Amino acid sequence: MTKTAVITGASSGLGLEFVKLFAKDGYNLVVIARNEEKLLEIKRDFPYVDVTVIPKDLSKPDAIKEIVDEMKTRKIFVDVLVNNAGFGLLGSFESLNIEQQLNMIHLNVSSLTELTYHLLPDLKKSKSGKILNVASTAAFQPGPSMAVYYATKSYVLSFSEALAEELKEDNITVTTLCPGATKTNFSSVAKVENTKMFSNAMPSDVVAKKGYDALMQGKGVVITGGFNKVGALAAKFLPRRTAAKVAKLVMKEN
Ligand SMILES: NC(=O)c1ccc[n+]([C@@H]2O[C@H](COP(=O)([O-])OP(=O)(O)OC[C@H]3O[C@@H](n4cnc5c(N)ncnc54)[C@H](OP(=O)(O)O)[C@@H]3O)[C@@H](O)[C@H]2O)c1
Repeated sequence: MTKTAVITGASSGLGLEFVKLFAKDGYNLVVIARNEEKLLEIKRDFPYVDVTVIPKDLSKPDAIKEIVDEMKTRKIFVDVLVNNAGFGLLGSFESLNIEQQLNMIHLNVSSLTELTYHLLPDLKKSKSGKILNVASTAAFQPGPSMAVYYATKSYVLSFSEALAEELKEDNITVTTLCPGATKTNFSSVAKVENTKMFSNAMPSDVVAKKGYDALMQGKGVVITGGFNKVGALAAKFLPRRTAAKVAKLVMKEN
């Protein structure tokens, strides 16, 4: 039977690259994001797979419930969940709009958690259930100038690693993708294009393929790029205050 993958944030960047990879392997898709036109484009571009389009703002409180209800009504059964939607914002905590920062927490943390919770019964029944959560190298240290974003990604990493352990007996794998700077719309949304960190961003197709391969192999945490691996390792050994200072430096504008 054809397997189905649910992908959040499918309308651009890494999400769109995941769409291409799953479609190539013959998966049916449920694609979720706010931009309905872009999601309908996916449906047109991949006529050989069954694409269900669910336009939704995942920062809204009822969004996940509405998605789950819609999937039940359409009798869609899920084998793979890719929690990819997310965004960041550059600026001091005090200077950034609080509503936008709360929306970020809702999108990056709450909706990822809630969607995972509601799709777990399907993933258990699937016998080859898999979850890919997109965190970031931001997960490994505090991030002054992007304090809330870094904290949301620490949550994603911690939650995913714990879940991977809990779900071992159910044969569900949980993979956490931790990209560093990657060429997508993220940088313009977050206004980080001119920072030191983004002066050497990786191509989105390369990053998504690393995540996809790790997901298919049931790996745990995958950090993309040699430099990012070294950075994440260094953050483990540095005192947290020093790691925060380094993070502040790389978020500085060139
Ligand atoms: N690019 C990087 O450097 C980088 C590095 C580390 C981690 N990441 C993570 O990678 C993930 C994917 O981001 P990306 O780099 O591919 O950036 P992107 O091109 O901006 O894609 C973000 C995706 O999330 C969706 N999205 C944003 N807000 C949403 C909302 N309120 N409701 C539903 N969907 C929403 C966007 O679709 P709509 O606008 O259509 O809603 C889009 O499909 C994010 O979790 C990000 O934190 C990115």
